[in-house]
Amino acid sequence: MQIKTVGVIGCGLMGSGIAQVAAAAGYKTIVREVNQTLLDKGMGRIVRFLETGMEKGKVTAQQRDTVVANLTGTTSFGDLHECDLIIEAIVEHITDKASAYNSVEAVVRPHAIFASNTSSLCITELASQTKRPDKFAGLHFFNPVPLMKLVEVVRGLTTSDETHETLMAFTQSLGKEPVTAPDKPGFIVNRLLIPYLLDAIRCYERGLGTIQDIDKSMQLGCGYPMGPLTLLDFVGLDTTYYIANIMFDEYKDPMFAAPPLLKRMVLAGKTGRKAGEGFYKY
Ligand code: CAA
Ligand code: NAD
Repeated sequence: MQIKTVGVIGCGLMGSGIAQVAAAAGYKTIVREVNQTLLDKGMGRIVRFLETGMEKGKVTAQQRDTVVANLTGTTSFGDLHECDLIIEAIVEHITDKASAYNSVEAVVRPHAIFASNTSSLCITELASQTKRPDKFAGLHFFNPVPLMKLVEVVRGLTTSDETHETLMAFTQSLGKEPVTAPDKPGFIVNRLLIPYLLDAIRCYERGLGTIQDIDKSMQLGCGYPMGPLTLLDFVGLDTTYYIANIMFDEYKDPMFAAPPLLKRMVLAGKTGRKAGEGFYKY
């Protein structure tokens, strides 16, 4: 199946990055947000990323112009009607995602493929919320989307071979490296990453070290690009909290249980870099 037009639902941290890379690869891209303020914020993030890239000599003026020319924003589901592929990147809640699929399904053509950028929700369950379970899969990008090479292509029990093949080829057309991941909570990367991040919070709660020393230790001792508490701020503490709860619910293993401090920081609105404060102030 040939994909010409891509719809992205959500222009937050991930949706803005996904819309940017789709537009950069030459797809006509339409990104939908819930209101104009949030849409402007997401589009502003894309423009800033491109400008920083130009300052660093990594993005040419022509590449920036390609993104700007191919990308439009909307607050209406109706504007997604011509899309061949819909990539959903909204909050990690099954009811919100199901409601968004319902709204898009009312406007798109029957051949359109749906993909979710979910970090941890069951792909087969998300697919079952639609009328196209064979044309549904996970397409898990990593943050920051324009810089991280990997995409997990997640096959649910109902995902057809054709949908899987189309998404593998689409991922490669974005200049990314796909891996096929199983429909198990956290797929491959988050199955390994989330227990590590939660453990870092538990260690901090138990006085293993200061925030700075825990981060410095993993950065300089292991060569990780970011310490775990910096990475938590980067991913979003709210998103990490939702992921932990979903994974704990499925595995019932204490290593996925959200530490008390994580819950409290989310309740206090200290959700990380996007909120101006998490483990650090921004
Ligand atoms: N446009 C284009 N290129 C840019 C750019 C921009 N705006 N900003 C930076 N770059 C380039 C830089 O030029 C540099 O390129 P080279 O390596 O060729 O020199 C590269 O990107 C790295 O940039 P910087 O050196 O400026 O920044 P950094 O070294 O601090 O790296 C980072 C930034 C890539 C984010 C790095 O800190 C990192 O990899 N962090 C870990 C991120 C991570 O783990 N993400 C996964 C999160 S988990 C997830 O996403 C899944 C989930 O479900 C929760
Ligand atoms: P975010 O909070 O930054 O952005 C979510 C955006 O979706 C918000 O701007 C919100 O207004 C918008 N939204 C909510 N309902 C909508 C709807 N019906 N239509 C259009 N927009 C809507 O969250 P995020 O970090 O971008 O995460 C989005 C998804 O990507 C989640 O499923 C998350 O698990 C996954 N994910 C996150 C990361 C990460 O590092 N943050 C990495 C990979 C995957």
